[in-house]
Amino acid sequence: MNNSAYQTLGFESLDGGVCLLTINRPASLNALNSATFTDLAHALERVAGDDEARVLLITGAGEKAFVAGADISEMQAMTAVEAMALSQTALRVFRQLELLPIPVIALVNGYCLGGGCELALACDWIIASESAVFGQPEVNLGITPGFGGTQRLSRLIGPARAMEMIVSGRQVKADEALAWGLVNHLYPQERLMPEALAMADLIRQKGPLAIALSKQAIVRGQGLDLDSACQIESQSFGLCFSSDDQEEGVAAFLEKRKPVFKGV
Ligand code: HXC
Repeated sequence: MNNSAYQTLGFESLDGGVCLLTINRPASLNALNSATFTDLAHALERVAGDDEARVLLITGAGEKAFVAGADISEMQAMTAVEAMALSQTALRVFRQLELLPIPVIALVNGYCLGGGCELALACDWIIASESAVFGQPEVNLGITPGFGGTQRLSRLIGPARAMEMIVSGRQVKADEALAWGLVNHLYPQERLMPEALAMADLIRQKGPLAIALSKQAIVRGQGLDLDSACQIESQSFGLCFSSDDQEEGVAAFLEKRKPVFKGV
């Protein structure tokens, strides 16, 4: 069911707790303008408040682009203060995305450039079509990445590869992105959505609370030293033992049946 009321986004609740968010500005290759960030923030609130939601999929409308970057036409007359405000808005919305308690998969179906690559990096992982193209081409415009790319890209693929991408602005093809660990899996374009739905189906059968706590430990642990990060894990592990899901999961294994998790 398409229950979207957004100017720049498609928002659909599919069966099985799958939410599908489609950046929908195909005339500009789904470039992210100010309205997109307003819409995204609102849609993410909806996902966060939906107890039935289990997985969020994010993609771009059409077959040519995931997102070709921030909207360059909005940047022409921007002052320094306005540019920083745009960056701060994007950072806030992407962090909101990163901290959702459910897994978020980016389905990259074409150009994934600049702010688009930064959006994909704020998702939990990326799957891509074999024809996808990644890049941080901001230096071509005389600017730096501004939506978290210098940090999330270097944390994911290492500083040397991130440095190469960012200072050269060169386009990285899908197979190289896979080899570099930017992308988890490549599929033919038409397989992207079925494969994402199959993954969502797998995730849907697991304990939602354990998923939320595991995700939180991974995301929040990124900025911490190993010892502090492992403490988050330890506390999450302990917390699971106050849940019905832990009782159910362990009992189901011992009784050789499928567990029925409730997320509490
Ligand atoms: C606004 C964009 C756009 C963008 C494409 N378009 N990218 N409009 N912002 N980022 C528009 C084009 O102007 C064109 O509009 C239409 O989309 C189709 O694009 P074409 O260029 O005609 O297509 P093609 O020749 O196939 O080239 C595709 C492309 C190229 C290689 C992706 O469009 C391109 O280089 N786009 C810019 C990519 C980029 O620099 N991204 C980083 C932006 S800066 P018309 O009206 O002519 O049909 C950024 C910074 C983030 O993201 C941080 C800021 C704080």
